[in-house]
Amino acid sequence: MRAPSAVLFDAYGTLFDVHSVAALAESFFAGRGQALSVLWRDKQIEYSRLVTTSDDGAHYQPFSELTRAGLRYACQRLALDLTPEREAQLMAQYLCLTPYPEVREVLDALRARGVATGILSNGDPAMLAPLVHNGGFSGLFDHVISIDAVRRFKTHPDAYRLGPQATGFDAADIAFVSSNGWDALAATWYGFRTLWINRAGLPREAIGPAPERTGSSLRDVLSFF
Ligand code: LAC
Repeated sequence: MRAPSAVLFDAYGTLFDVHSVAALAESFFAGRGQALSVLWRDKQIEYSRLVTTSDDGAHYQPFSELTRAGLRYACQRLALDLTPEREAQLMAQYLCLTPYPEVREVLDALRARGVATGILSNGDPAMLAPLVHNGGFSGLFDHVISIDAVRRFKTHPDAYRLGPQATGFDAADIAFVSSNGWDALAATWYGFRTLWINRAGLPREAIGPAPERTGSSLRDVLSFF
């Protein structure tokens, strides 16, 4: 098989550790930081699907707003006192999530091979720009693509279609990389070549085809070349 011409990465959980908010959450809510981080992420994703699948997308809100809503819900559910100051700090933390340690070397290796690189994320531009900047990756991605342009979150095909549109390559010529099993599956359905980074050692989704490749770190993307 021919090597892909472009590699697009999911952002949250794939390039950046969403659970790096747990330390700050733990400092506010001793013993509950991890639980809050997990429920927060679950609600954020649930709300993204809810607004995309209901009323043909009429209830769309940018990912930052759904992230804030997810935080509020999770704190209420766990009976944690989310003061305005704590909310502001936790939301600010979402703009400087810790990148996974191999991101830089993998980007450098792809760029050295002349491969186009990008992010294709649910995050809105106002979240992605500081995230990329604070991670130290300014100028290292050829494309930073937000689904906000089409107001449909992944796994809606309109969201994935932004990849071919932005890069100018066919889906079959693009490798899509995600650590979220559902995202890797839907990207496979869409027609991308896919790599699932199974960081957590989870079983693969019990429906649909397997991703083309499964790896344990972003370095595995180099196996396409
Ligand atoms: C993203 C979320 C889904 O970056 O992880 O699109």
